[in-house]
Amino acid sequence: MSLLVFSVPLLSAVVVMTAVFRSPLLALCRQLYSGTLRRSHRKVCVSSTHAYVFSNCTHGQAQSVLLTFDLYSTTHTSFNIGPQKGEFLDEIVKREAPRRVLELGTHCGYASVRILRLLPPSGKLLTVELDPLTADRGEEIILVAGFKHQQFQVLTCSSAEAISSLLSHTGNDLLDLVLMDHDPELYLQDLLALQRGNLLSTSCVVLINRALTPGARDLLEYVTARPQSFSMGRQLDGLMEIRCHTAA
Ligand SMILES: C[S@@+](CC[C@H](N)C(=O)[O-])C[C@H]1O[C@@H](n2cnc3c(N)ncnc32)[C@H](O)[C@@H]1O
Ligand SMILES: *[C@@H]1O[C@H](CO)[C@@H](O)[C@H](O)[C@H]1NC(C)=O
Repeated sequence: MSLLVFSVPLLSAVVVMTAVFRSPLLALCRQLYSGTLRRSHRKVCVSSTHAYVFSNCTHGQAQSVLLTFDLYSTTHTSFNIGPQKGEFLDEIVKREAPRRVLELGTHCGYASVRILRLLPPSGKLLTVELDPLTADRGEEIILVAGFKHQQFQVLTCSSAEAISSLLSHTGNDLLDLVLMDHDPELYLQDLLALQRGNLLSTSCVVLINRALTPGARDLLEYVTARPQSFSMGRQLDGLMEIRCHTAA
C-alpha cells in the first residue's frame, strides 16, 4: 500500500518531466550527433582532398595543383573557393600586388596556392587554420605546389589568436590584403581586432567569402554604415571585396 502511495506521484512526476524535457533533450541529442557528423565529414573531406591532390598533381607546379583540386571538385564536395571565385581572387591579387597577405581558414591550401603564385617577389602569405590535422595537410599541399617557407607560414590557431600575435609573424609589416574564409560569425570581431591593432595598411583590401550567409550580416551592416571608412567593391557569388580607408 505504502509503495503504491509513493510510486503513483513518482510515476506521474517522471511522466511530466519526460514530456517537458523530451523535445529539448531530443534537440540536444540531434545537435550533438550532427555536430560530430559534421566534424568527421570535414576530416574525411580534408583527407580525401589531400590524398587526391597529392597523388594526382605534378609536384612543384602550382597550376597543376590547382587544376587537380578543380578536377576533384567536379565529383566531390569541396570546401575551397573554387575556380570562378578563384579567378576573382586572382584579379585582386594581381591588381593590389600585396606584400603582406593574411588568409583566415587555410583548409587544404587551395586559395593559399592561388594567392602565392601571384604575389610579388617580396610578398608573403600568412595563413591561419584552427584544426591541426587540416593545417598539416594544407601546409603539405602548399609545399607540394613548390612554395617555400620564406614565402608563407601556416599558423595553427584560431583567427583571434593569430590576429593578437600578428606583428611578431609579419615583422611589424601591415596587411595589404586579408581573405576571410573561416567562420562568418567571426568576421566582424576579427575585422574589429585587426583595426584595433592597427594591422591594416592605409588602403587594405578585405575579401570576405560567404558574404551572403546570415553569419556575415553583422559585418556587412557595420561596414555599410561607415562609408567614410569602407567602400564596397565587387561581389561574386558571395565573395565580396571591401576596401578599408584607414587614417594614416
Ligand atoms: C571554407 S574552409 C577555407 C577554404 C580555403 N580558404 C580555400 O579556399 O582553399 C574554412 C576553414 O576555416 C577553418 N576555421 C574555422 N574556424 C576558424 C577559426 N576561428 N580560426 C581559424 N580557422 C578556422 C576550418 O577548419 C576550415 O578548414
Ligand atoms: C587520382 O585520380 C584518379 C582518377 O581521377 C582517382 O581514381 C584516384 O582515386 C586519385 N587518387 C587518389 C589517391 O585519390
